[in-house]
Amino acid sequence: MFVSLLGTLGCLTLPDELRPEESDQLLCVPGGQPPLWKFMDSIRSEGLQQGEEALSCPEEGLPRPSDSSELVQDCLQQFKVTVAQLQQIQASLLGSMEQALRGQASPVPAVRMLPTYVGSTPHGTEQGDFVVLELGATGASLRVLWVTLTGIEGHRVEPRSQEFVIPQDVMLGTGQQLFDFAAHCLSEFLDAQPVSKQGLQLGFSFSFPCHQTGLDRSTLISWTKGFRCSGVEGQDVVQLLRDAIQRQGAYNIDVVAVVNDTVGTMMGCELGARPCEVGLVVDTGTNVCYMEEARDVAVLDEDRGRVCVSVEWGSFSDDGALGPVLTTFDHTLDHESLNPGAQRFEKMIGGLYLGELVRLVLAHLTRRGVLFRGCPSPALLSQGSVLLEHVAEMEDPSAGAARVHAILQDLGLSPEASDVELVQRVCAAVCTRAAQLCAAALAAVLSRLQHSREQQTLQVAVATGGRVCERHPRFCSILQGTVMLLAPECDVSFIPSADGGGRGVAMVTAVAARLAAHRRLLEETLAPFRLNHDQLAAVQAQMREAMAKGLRGEASSLRMLPTYVRATPDGSERGDFLALDLGGTNFRVLLLFDHIVDCIVDFQQKQGLSGQSLPLGFTFSFPCKQLGLDQGILLNWTKGFNASDCEGQDVVSLLREAITRRQAVELNVVAIVNDTVGTMMSCGYEDPRCEIGLIVGTGTNACYMEELRNVAGVPGDSGHMCINMEWGAFGDDGSLDTLSTCFDASVDQASINPGKQRFEKMISGMYLGEIVRHILLHLTSLGVLFRGQQTQRLQTRDIFKTKFLSEIESDSLALRQVRAILEDLGLPLTSDDTLMVLEVCQAVSQRAAQLCGAGVAAVAEKIRENRGLEELAVSVGVDGTLYKLHPHFSSLVAATVRELAPRCAVTFLQSEDGSGKGAALVTAVACRLAQSTRV
Ligand code: BG6
Ligand code: GLC
Ligand code: GLC
Repeated sequence: MFVSLLGTLGCLTLPDELRPEESDQLLCVPGGQPPLWKFMDSIRSEGLQQGEEALSCPEEGLPRPSDSSELVQDCLQQFKVTVAQLQQIQASLLGSMEQALRGQASPVPAVRMLPTYVGSTPHGTEQGDFVVLELGATGASLRVLWVTLTGIEGHRVEPRSQEFVIPQDVMLGTGQQLFDFAAHCLSEFLDAQPVSKQGLQLGFSFSFPCHQTGLDRSTLISWTKGFRCSGVEGQDVVQLLRDAIQRQGAYNIDVVAVVNDTVGTMMGCELGARPCEVGLVVDTGTNVCYMEEARDVAVLDEDRGRVCVSVEWGSFSDDGALGPVLTTFDHTLDHESLNPGAQRFEKMIGGLYLGELVRLVLAHLTRRGVLFRGCPSPALLSQGSVLLEHVAEMEDPSAGAARVHAILQDLGLSPEASDVELVQRVCAAVCTRAAQLCAAALAAVLSRLQHSREQQTLQVAVATGGRVCERHPRFCSILQGTVMLLAPECDVSFIPSADGGGRGVAMVTAVAARLAAHRRLLEETLAPFRLNHDQLAAVQAQMREAMAKGLRGEASSLRMLPTYVRATPDGSERGDFLALDLGGTNFRVLLLFDHIVDCIVDFQQKQGLSGQSLPLGFTFSFPCKQLGLDQGILLNWTKGFNASDCEGQDVVSLLREAITRRQAVELNVVAIVNDTVGTMMSCGYEDPRCEIGLIVGTGTNACYMEELRNVAGVPGDSGHMCINMEWGAFGDDGSLDTLSTCFDASVDQASINPGKQRFEKMISGMYLGEIVRHILLHLTSLGVLFRGQQTQRLQTRDIFKTKFLSEIESDSLALRQVRAILEDLGLPLTSDDTLMVLEVCQAVSQRAAQLCGAGVAAVAEKIRENRGLEELAVSVGVDGTLYKLHPHFSSLVAATVRELAPRCAVTFLQSEDGSGKGAALVTAVACRLAQSTRV
């Protein structure tokens, strides 16, 4: 009889030969539950002690004790919870929630408040076919669903689904067994579906407490609800599932998203008049999720929007609040469970436990002789024999005494009419308390919502799911009534989930799939910016070749201009000099030489130097053909300068003419110096090994000390000369075309000098922002960014300044500050957008730094080889806003140089006071030489 009942409930195995009292196996719950309790391998449970008594129960039973009504009263009274107690639980849970939100960990996790990476409730536009795998929501069963989202409101396609019973040894076996079993079920289900084996997208509903770090990354914190597979806690369950699917090998399935059952329940809620922002599940276990303000979730680096938080209230365990409502039966149940001391709140509400609580009470009353004439059955004394379904039926007033009688008989009991009535009261007491406690907890969540939304009356829909909610009408009505009592300021409608949350999981999967597709597009777009070792080594080699050609006076994109600076400073240089610095960020407004002279006059007056004839060093940061220290013919403008009638002219003469026109001053222009040279000289004053000058600012360029014998066109075979490489023009002969992206081409085309300064346009501050802007435009056109909406701002040239790149990539900035910077630029971003823009900036600046490093490596190697050295120690004087302000640029340059020029120990020195000091040093040396010639 008993065995046949289990059969109808679909239990997997019940060995006939094993009488429950002899067995250390547990009986099953629907769906063929494996043991959800500790096995009684030693005699310690109240049940078994009674079992021994029971064997000695006389045929006719024991007389009912005289104090039986008090005993009943005492027992049932324990399950009564007062409104004050419920309010205390509500307040305490709310406090725990807020504490956990603030990130204040308590030693015992009260509630976990786990962010889920679901940032919005469904739009209703999600569409596609999805496979959903549900594990852990409903006891020992696993469900696979095929869900079709039409994207059309009100148009539903019924999901197809199949349920599989998880064998007991799998539930308590290894993680690999469990996930292999899941992969096997997936295949079996899909085999029966008319679907392709390729490109399937899966949403994984995994209903245990997990730390999520992305929509598809989730680490199991601890098992609950009778699962205990080894090797899974602390692991990413998505990866475990992926591995198992791969081992299985039958289908190509992409696990796109992982969600808790509460989230699936909330997300699957029909779009109604009010927002559905809470998902409640009471099934084997119980839990809730809701939409929290992201700024209030301390662990998230987010200050805007909302995020779905899984409360994991099953672990709520405040002794002060829960203590008074815990009964002796709760303690016994906890003690006998697989996870004693854990999930105390869940153990008073979840469906896995309600039957067991009823059983413990019935066994207790039987032992006292109040029920069944004092004669329990072996089943009544065996853990897990009273099922949630039994309780539901027995407490349902419409079930009728005959049905209760039948159920009890199936449990091997011989109930009298009074027994039937008392059993119904016990069931009602246990379930009423569960519903009330659940209501108190839900009221806490609603209070939290109301508080964070700052609303007088909160209008909200709560999606409900799970067998307890679905199949116990009384549970739901008590829950709703109690919520109204405890949270009168909330106007709540309860919406039962239509299909166990499967649709909601598919919704999340649809969103995750879209995001994953966006990520792929982002990766594809940025791939050409990610240069490998071979590509960088090729740049270095090409640079070396172009240097050699340029020095020999052959056609080359590197002009290799002699500067007539023959020595770096020796530190003895003294005197007063004027220095003028044109060509970097700070002089960008100066376009005419007369204006420059005005500035000098003004400066001299302020410094009390009027009337003195001072030697002047002129830093002029453009390509000049020099025929001596004080003669420089401007070859062409770069970096956006375009003053007319200067190209082909000697800029020193232009300056001298302006001085003459402005008769008030006497200035003696002694030297014209490129900024790279000025920087090298100024750093060389401190460090004699400084033989390379590097600028990475508005533009980029380098100079270094070359052997004079290698420099065609300058007489002399001994000694050195500083060569201004003008490396910004490297690649103007097409040699960089294989590395150049379509975004580089767009920036080049829109520039004032198309086809020119190709290396500079991939590296320097004047162009990086523009490259980023063009990439963002492209990603927007693909729908990856800004929801595909082109904004006017993004069409604006030069809105991205170099300093934004530096700011955005600064490690000390939180993502929210990055977004603030971008919003200041007028870009309407979501948090996903912010991260992507950051990645774009990183890819562009990383490539720039690596190319720059390849250039420095080429120069250092050239010097080493010139000198026939095995190892070279050399310093580079550096200046420029990009190099100095960007948080990672300098270290990336250095790393690339180490990689490409391993035999050179290269030290980078930042120029402290610009290249002006260097120009003065060049001037000082020139004056000294001039004087000594005169002498
Ligand atoms: C300055 C130097 O510090 O850096 C200038 O004094 C140089 O000579 C400039 O041109 C380069 O950096 P930016 O970022 O101003 O172009
Ligand atoms: C347990 C799980 C939780 C789940 C709930 C309902 O409490 O820890 O993640 O949501 O059961 O299934
Ligand atoms: C440009 C100029 C070059 C200068 C560099 C850095 O490339 O052509 O002369 O050194 O910018 O300012």
